[in-house]
Amino acid sequence: MSIARAVRVREFGAPEVMRVEQVELPDPAAGEVRVRQTAIGFNFIDVYQRRGTYPLPLPTGLGHEAAGVVEAVGPGVADLKVGDRVVYMNAGIGAYADLRNLPADRLATLPAAVSDEDAAAVFFKAMTAQYLLRRTHRVEPGDLLLVHAAAGGVGQILCRWAKALGAEVIGTAGSAAKCEIARAAGADHAIDYSKPDWPQALLAATDGRKARVVYDSVGKDTFLHSLDCAAPFGLVVLYGAASGPAPAIEPELLNKKGCLFLTRPSVFPHNADPATFRANAIEVFQAIAAGQVRAAIGARFALDEAAQAHRAAESRATTGAIVLHP
Ligand SMILES: NC(=O)c1ccc[n+]([C@@H]2O[C@H](COP(=O)([O-])OP(=O)(O)OC[C@H]3O[C@@H](n4cnc5c(N)ncnc54)[C@H](OP(=O)(O)O)[C@@H]3O)[C@@H](O)[C@H]2O)c1
Repeated sequence: MSIARAVRVREFGAPEVMRVEQVELPDPAAGEVRVRQTAIGFNFIDVYQRRGTYPLPLPTGLGHEAAGVVEAVGPGVADLKVGDRVVYMNAGIGAYADLRNLPADRLATLPAAVSDEDAAAVFFKAMTAQYLLRRTHRVEPGDLLLVHAAAGGVGQILCRWAKALGAEVIGTAGSAAKCEIARAAGADHAIDYSKPDWPQALLAATDGRKARVVYDSVGKDTFLHSLDCAAPFGLVVLYGAASGPAPAIEPELLNKKGCLFLTRPSVFPHNADPATFRANAIEVFQAIAAGQVRAAIGARFALDEAAQAHRAAESRATTGAIVLHP
């Protein structure tokens, strides 16, 4: 038995509903290992789950991603040992903690070249970029892609990786300063979508060309414009709701906008099978080694400051990834 410090949410609401509590942790069960966590990744889904937009049974922990060191091994675990450095993004909710028992087959062993902090900053987001760029649409050289929130955590990774795959990338962001960050991350064109005429500015930047694929994680504020920014027969990938859920549409609208394809995918089903998860993780580590994916840490907070981290993200004050330290 060990004692862990973990964030608990007993009611949905503002950032203050996150409280760090002491939790009794039994020895790892069959198939589990105990991980001493060193860095925890913030992801925007943590906000939706804290608010209750994506409701969880209460009380609940929070967080999907962390890196750390294996401290104890339960019965039947053959491929991990004490001292191994690991990272996860789909091992059950509750990453906002210093110590956890986790299913061994949901953990990826970290290469020596990737620090724990970089892993926690990048793993969930790069596994998202991996399926978006390799599965949802297999990016080909010359594809014109539109990435919303391009200065954010997932956004910067999408820009750099898509560029490395030979795509031409349009990034949108909420200010001139954030547009510079999107450019530095690889966007060929950066559009400030806080300006009302941004769709026209986008078409001016591309000489009227529309995107083969639109990656929209902003939702409410951008979704209908995204349909107008997609080329005929193009694909609109709605994969988040940072500004609120996208409005409902009639299927007929996809016809009117140019026989568009629309999908609403999630990273979890793409990594539900342990063998697929490990293969995807290897692809992400290879992309990190090749410089196609980089950790861009925009802010660091202590675990006790999780509420401040959420406030910073929700107020759009951050760029890149936020890391919590237990
Ligand atoms: N479906 C999936 O598999 C999946 C997996 C991972 C992440 N996601 C989604 O991908 C998005 C990015 O995730 P992330 O963790 O990397 O977060 P992030 O991009 O670092 O933060 C969200 C960004 O959204 C933009 N935004 C636009 N309107 C906003 C508003 N009203 N409130 C707050 N932010 C707003 C902000 O950038 P600007 O200020 O530049 O507008 C903000 O920085 C999120 O929507 C997340 O839910 C989806």
